Amino acid sequence: MKRKITLLVSLICLAGIQLFAQPAGRENFDANWKFHLGDVDNAEKTDYPDQDWRSLDLPHDWSIEGSFKPDNPATNSGASLPGGIGWYRKNFSVNDAKSKHRFIQFDGVYMNSTVWINGHKLGNRPFGYSTFQYDMTPYLKEGDNVISVKVDNSLQPNSRWYSGSGIYRHVWLNTTSPVHVSQWGTYVTTPKVSAKEALVQVETSISNDNKGKANISIVSTIIDNNGKKIASQIQMGEIEQGAQLKINTKIKVNAPQLWSIEQPNLYKLTSEVYQGKELKDTYYTTFGIRSIVFRSDSGFFLNNKCVKVKGVCLHHDLGCLGTALNTRALTRQLEILKSMGCNGIRTSHNPPSPDLLDLCDKMGFLVMDEAFDVWYLEKMKYDYHNYFKDWHERDLSDMVLRDRNHPSIFLWSIGNEIPEKNHTKYGGAAIAKELDGIIKKYDKTRFTTSAFAGVWRADTTFMTDKVDVIGINYTVERYPEEKAKHPNGFFIASETTSSQSDRGIYHFPADSAMQATSDMHCSSFDNRGTYYDRPATMITQTTWRVVKETPYVAGLFVWTGFDYYGEPAYPYPCISSSYGIVDLCGFPKDVFYFYKSQWTNEPVLHLFPHWNWKVGALIDVIAYTNCDGVKLYLNDKLIGEQAFANTNITYQTRQWDQVINLGQGQKLSLNWKVSFTPGTLRAEGYKNGKLIATDVVKTAGDASKIDLSADRKTIQADGKDLSYITVKIKDYKGTLVPDADNLVHFDLEGEGKIVGVANGNPISIEAAKGKERSAFSGMCQIIVQSTSKKGMIVLKASSLGLPDEKIELLSN
Ligand code: GAL
Repeated sequence: MKRKITLLVSLICLAGIQLFAQPAGRENFDANWKFHLGDVDNAEKTDYPDQDWRSLDLPHDWSIEGSFKPDNPATNSGASLPGGIGWYRKNFSVNDAKSKHRFIQFDGVYMNSTVWINGHKLGNRPFGYSTFQYDMTPYLKEGDNVISVKVDNSLQPNSRWYSGSGIYRHVWLNTTSPVHVSQWGTYVTTPKVSAKEALVQVETSISNDNKGKANISIVSTIIDNNGKKIASQIQMGEIEQGAQLKINTKIKVNAPQLWSIEQPNLYKLTSEVYQGKELKDTYYTTFGIRSIVFRSDSGFFLNNKCVKVKGVCLHHDLGCLGTALNTRALTRQLEILKSMGCNGIRTSHNPPSPDLLDLCDKMGFLVMDEAFDVWYLEKMKYDYHNYFKDWHERDLSDMVLRDRNHPSIFLWSIGNEIPEKNHTKYGGAAIAKELDGIIKKYDKTRFTTSAFAGVWRADTTFMTDKVDVIGINYTVERYPEEKAKHPNGFFIASETTSSQSDRGIYHFPADSAMQATSDMHCSSFDNRGTYYDRPATMITQTTWRVVKETPYVAGLFVWTGFDYYGEPAYPYPCISSSYGIVDLCGFPKDVFYFYKSQWTNEPVLHLFPHWNWKVGALIDVIAYTNCDGVKLYLNDKLIGEQAFANTNITYQTRQWDQVINLGQGQKLSLNWKVSFTPGTLRAEGYKNGKLIATDVVKTAGDASKIDLSADRKTIQADGKDLSYITVKIKDYKGTLVPDADNLVHFDLEGEGKIVGVANGNPISIEAAKGKERSAFSGMCQIIVQSTSKKGMIVLKASSLGLPDEKIELLSN
């Protein structure tokens, strides 16, 4: 592209230029779409009769609205839900069609989307996780216009997890002047950071889509958390017709409020483009001031402070909402993870929604932003390997260009367990080098990595020098060996653990590894894992202990934070995974408290399993706690006392048939074997001799009531906000009935609607969008969404043989 910079002047104040409020021309374009499931001819044409199509607002996932069926081609890896083809259309009206530039931006469409405006094809995008935009300006008319989108998710299986189908992220109408900040046109970095002063470097790209040259000035203003303008600069330039100009600015910020996990301070950059004295375009960029460094001996440093990454991997579905993006649902996920002490998210194995990154910026999570699950070699017949050749450069560049201002991102990952990486003959090293180069073309301020498959790799050494940080998946026993090979290397446990558990399910004995069991469930005793480590007992604590005690490993990303649809532990009707630390509803499993006890300083004492067993049965009892020791009482009689100081064990892992000792250490959980007597089992946790926490499990009687509680009783009347209602089946004394599976029906009146029902049971194929749900291990969930009208919402729950129950919510 032809570029000409005629003048670059830097000025520290805004003298002479009057600032006035100017909306940055970005408009949410989610409302009022028409949708048709199935392929139709001519639906791209302007006059196509779509009046009978369904009306809906985006984001939308049509797969989750379907039925789980064994013959759906996604297979149960993709949650046995339907794919297919869907069409979306939206009519909208435009004034001054020619004097403004209008771009349509899709944050993500799964997958293979083709977009038309007024019958004119704008383009096609195969990758379901990329954000893209098209310039509609030349084809827009004054008055009515119609946009048509065909989404083709018919070639299945194309994913190892549930992908969803449709326009599942937001859509935006970006209106600019012909002279405007380009798409993703700002790049803010902070090359010098100290408590006293930070240097903020801004590169702004400005496009001239006007006729003739444009003389512009650009005003870059930094605004702090409180909305206060703290520094500003003006620069000038000349841009040829059809060209793009890059302008660099350096701005000093005194006593910067640094971005950190504990205090995620953010700044806003306002970029204003003037022609003469006329403000033509305004562009906002959120950024943070922080420094990041890896050290070969001591891991990762944020603002010169060593931070162990306590992260989780996440797929993008939101349980029974499917993949249709909802900000509240995403926020809730992160709130739950934050309360566990989690400080890192890996966007496995694809570029995330921009919303997730915004939330990680705001809430203080470190992000490993990952591009691909495959390159040229397939994992599924119809996956991205079919598109990699033609699209990888574009998709990877777009990911970095879109995401490079997020302070939360510290790692770019070029791929997960890429098959080429393990075979020199497929040229994996050369591809890795190319991908690393693409990233560094756009951002050199973060570190590149790749999640190397430690499990079955033949050799990673030929690849590890192609990225900055060696990401090792699983195989914690290999750290010393890898470190010896790469003494100056940086390391992260890019994926670990893969322990499987279903909430409320226990297979005895706890110290025996469970594989497939006839109930098609996974035990919650940390005694069920996938095939990586057999037998898989204590895999959770073994992994964390090794990572914790290996200073050169910067931290870990546990597989996974939340359960997700797809990749289940058993054949159909098992349709969702059991890897999550919390289940598909967001209900914590026992292991949640293990991490919480290790990752926070709050007193944690969690006693399990439940207390409904056969009299005389020998029951493993476990406490996840950060107390020094625990006293255990059965019906008020002291039956055991344990302190961590006395629990030295040899940690072991197993690679195939080989048992590997990982050294001695204190156990990270306490356990007993107790002969079952009904009643109350109580644990008291002591620190420095003081009682600081207690937990109790009680024998439950018959189910006799429904208990409803809302995470938020007041929600916003914006048509998007959500209240998550937890449904518990309890006995007459209020104790959860641990094996209750009562079917609960819901009726809703008032200004809300039911948008999903769930129970966290991986072998439940009840509809996610229904109005009833069976309890699983005594619990289920219903999600209520506001409408755009204020008012009361009354939710009634009924179940055969139990009294009806209701809960009232306020939407305002
Ligand atoms: C890993 C893989 C993840 C998931 C996990 C299940 O090897 O990277 O995507 O499949 O196994 O254990």
